[in-house]
Amino acid sequence: MKILVTGGLGFIGSHTVVELQKEGYEVVIIDNCSNASEEVLEGITAITGKRPLFEKMDLRDKADVISFFDRHSDVAGVIHFAASKAVGESVEKPLLYYENNLTTLVYLLQQLTQKKKAHFIFSSSCTVYGQADEMPITENAPVKPAESPYGNTKQIGEEIIRDTCRVCPQLQAISLRYFNPMGAHPSAEIGELPLGVPQNLVPFITQTGIGLREQLSVFGDDYPTEDGTCIRDYIHVVDLARAHVVALKRLMDGKNEENYEVFNVGTGTGSSVMEVIHSFERVSGTKLNYKVVGRRAGDITQAYADTSLANRVLGWKAESTLDDAMRSAWKWEQKIRS
Ligand code: WQD
Repeated sequence: MKILVTGGLGFIGSHTVVELQKEGYEVVIIDNCSNASEEVLEGITAITGKRPLFEKMDLRDKADVISFFDRHSDVAGVIHFAASKAVGESVEKPLLYYENNLTTLVYLLQQLTQKKKAHFIFSSSCTVYGQADEMPITENAPVKPAESPYGNTKQIGEEIIRDTCRVCPQLQAISLRYFNPMGAHPSAEIGELPLGVPQNLVPFITQTGIGLREQLSVFGDDYPTEDGTCIRDYIHVVDLARAHVVALKRLMDGKNEENYEVFNVGTGTGSSVMEVIHSFERVSGTKLNYKVVGRRAGDITQAYADTSLANRVLGWKAESTLDDAMRSAWKWEQKIRS
């Protein structure tokens, strides 16, 4: 069974390629390397002993997408990660995000719906919920008006897939709404490689810990939470990768009741910024240099998942603790800076 992983050189994509190969799938990666390096192929191969097929390609080129599916007519499933994902950048460059995240999705679905059967996993995000009214967040929580073009592309992306599945029964799809991915493969052969100054909390923490950054700014401690800092559901990237394999198997084994399903993928536990900092200090044995500053525009107070649907229906549950994930993130940071 050949599986296409778009964005397969990226953070979550590369970890998912490893888990797919471990399950015996043949993997072909499409990546335009705009936010990832071909070096990642070596890391994947070092872990699994199998080098995935790789085609450097931009999904915005419709002719290339058509030609890819002509050449790889045996692709039985697609896991679609390739997208731009920087919230702040999306506010500055909305058209780049609408083109790169949505036009490419349409080109992929146009090819998949020409097959007798197609299985499609979409990389969505808890960002579709905005600040949900109730915690933990279930899949039935209302989708709120997006706070950024990035978040809007995830909402619109889900609607494009839903509307297509409604008229194309041959398309079987699942959207996975990620919470906050973090960490790295325990081998430290692959991990997160943020370009430039990290926007996300965990890579900024580990880069501060290793001395690459002077000090972590904690964006506000005046939120209505126990310690005043925002709460998120931090999930180990390997747990998240495994959820993709389980979801794909559900579709390929024909176990899905509907031809479009949505699942939250988190740990079900919320952690505050201070708790994440303390986790780093525990696993690294070092004090982190941080300073509380003003709130960051657009941040919500809290988001953590109700994962009972994925636990029950997918038979999937996150296994790693916050400290496990932080330990892997720190080991990775030390390795790439050594
Ligand atoms: C987490 C918490 C910050 C950096 C983003 C995207 C979301 C998804 C996951 C793609 C917040 C605080 C952060 C820092 C800080 N990505 N923080 N100092 O914003 O929850 O979600 O990544 O799907 O779409 O929005 O993650 O890691 O940026 O922030 O205090 O230097 O850490 O205020 O409370 P976020 P994050």
